[in-house]
Amino acid sequence: MDRSGVSQRLAEAGQAHLLQFWDVLSPEEQKELHRDLKEMDFKEINGFFKSAMEISSSSKHEKMDTRMEPVPRDVLGSVTRDRDSVRDWEDAGLLCISQNKVAALLLAGGQGTRLGVSYPKGMYDVGLPSHKTLFQIQAERILKLQDLAEKKHKTKCCIPWYIMTSGRTMDSTEEFFSNHNYFGLDKEKVVFFQQGMLPAMDYNGKIILESKSKLSMAPDGNGGLYRALERQKILQKMQQRGIECIHVYCVDNILVKVADPAFIGFCVQKRADCGAKVVEKTNPTEAVGVVCKVDGHYQVVEYSEITLATAEKRSSDGRLAFNAGNVANHFFSFSFLKDIVQKYEPQLQHHVAQKKIPYVNETGAVIKPDKPNGIKMEKFVFDIFQFANTFVVYEVLREDEFSPLKNADSQESKDTPTTARHALMSLHHRWVLNAGGHFIDENGRHVPAIPSLKDGTDLPIKCEISPLVSYGGEGLEDLVKGKEFHPTLTIDESGVHQLVKNGV
Ligand code: UD1
Repeated sequence: MDRSGVSQRLAEAGQAHLLQFWDVLSPEEQKELHRDLKEMDFKEINGFFKSAMEISSSSKHEKMDTRMEPVPRDVLGSVTRDRDSVRDWEDAGLLCISQNKVAALLLAGGQGTRLGVSYPKGMYDVGLPSHKTLFQIQAERILKLQDLAEKKHKTKCCIPWYIMTSGRTMDSTEEFFSNHNYFGLDKEKVVFFQQGMLPAMDYNGKIILESKSKLSMAPDGNGGLYRALERQKILQKMQQRGIECIHVYCVDNILVKVADPAFIGFCVQKRADCGAKVVEKTNPTEAVGVVCKVDGHYQVVEYSEITLATAEKRSSDGRLAFNAGNVANHFFSFSFLKDIVQKYEPQLQHHVAQKKIPYVNETGAVIKPDKPNGIKMEKFVFDIFQFANTFVVYEVLREDEFSPLKNADSQESKDTPTTARHALMSLHHRWVLNAGGHFIDENGRHVPAIPSLKDGTDLPIKCEISPLVSYGGEGLEDLVKGKEFHPTLTIDESGVHQLVKNGV
């Protein structure tokens, strides 16, 4: 083991402290530490630290509020205001899917810290009657969409699914898919790849050791996507497959319309190279980023970056001025993505998150700080909007498409397993009503369409429809029209099932 080469590089980069416990490490620990250090480019990491700190402390950053403008109406498509066009967009999207031009790309490299689970978030079961995980729900939506495109265009097609994981989630994600037989998808069309990791650093730019032999490492943000696409030659694979449109989305939204044909069709018809799906932000303090223009360029400004006064600003129609809430659903044309990966990625700056990072002190004891003691550096997936020539925004209904799983039930009442489960069941309840079905209670009375408050809690009807039966509420009439159902109602490939039982 050539320790001297590594020590010299560390000394030159001002990171020599990383070897301070070398002599007390076991040979195995020495080997692992040496391997980790050998792979790292300290000059580059120091450079990232310097520019990230400069940007986060610059006055330009502070004055974000004065540089922001709302999204102009002419780039906006809306499922409510442009209702007459949605069918056309959907048809255009389904055509692209049938021609094998569409890929789905899932960002699943996050650590799910807020949810507090040790496994990847996609493996989470929010407690639906079927107990399907987020990964399974998404896989089945892809299967159904392929089926819809095939039936409409009478040709076999496939939506390849690219799944970005991180060093922490790669093995368990792959194993989960393999154990579940890829949920019925063609294994060859599910491509896993790994994003990069970066060390946590203290405020002086020193890399933090989380134990005597281990650096404190974290994924480099969902904008690590672009580097990972290049390094793992994913872009080449997409090109070989003839992919022209990519739907990029986050793992945690239980209502996500994977490869949404209407969104794709809208972006394609507008000849957009980049698009963002949004929901109307109605509460100024809601923790979502907003899509807007900053210094004339499209960007997402995170809720933490603006003042309350800006968040509360209203336009003449009474709506929030900055109301394009980012649901982390993006459209990229292949050529745009290629330009980003090959030309613009180095221009993307890391964002700085101040964190409480456990560390070892000089005596080798592990300390858990009670206030932030260092930073993690992350790139964000949407930081490339600024490079788009034609950027569009697609507004959808929150109750139909957005219910993210961020927090544990024990910690919060918002964006939890319970809210995600309720959002999905409430959507499926509405699908049944719209298709002409009704629900009756245990006394045979019609349940009102809007569930009443029960024990102070707004409990939805228990109803779950498999994505293999319906992607977006279509195709249910034959199963439900004119019929009465007792909750729990589940509809899957084997038919319609009712289970009369209380509680959600
Ligand atoms: C994200 C959006 C925010 C949006 C919100 C909606 C970003 C940077 N912010 O915020 O604008 O309003 O979702 O729910 O996109 N991930 C990785 N690698 C990482 C870090 C995260 O793949 O290194 C993935 C996660 O697995 C997840 C997604 O990115 O699928 C979003 O990450 P998360 O940390 O939950 O973002 P939010 O802060 O909630």
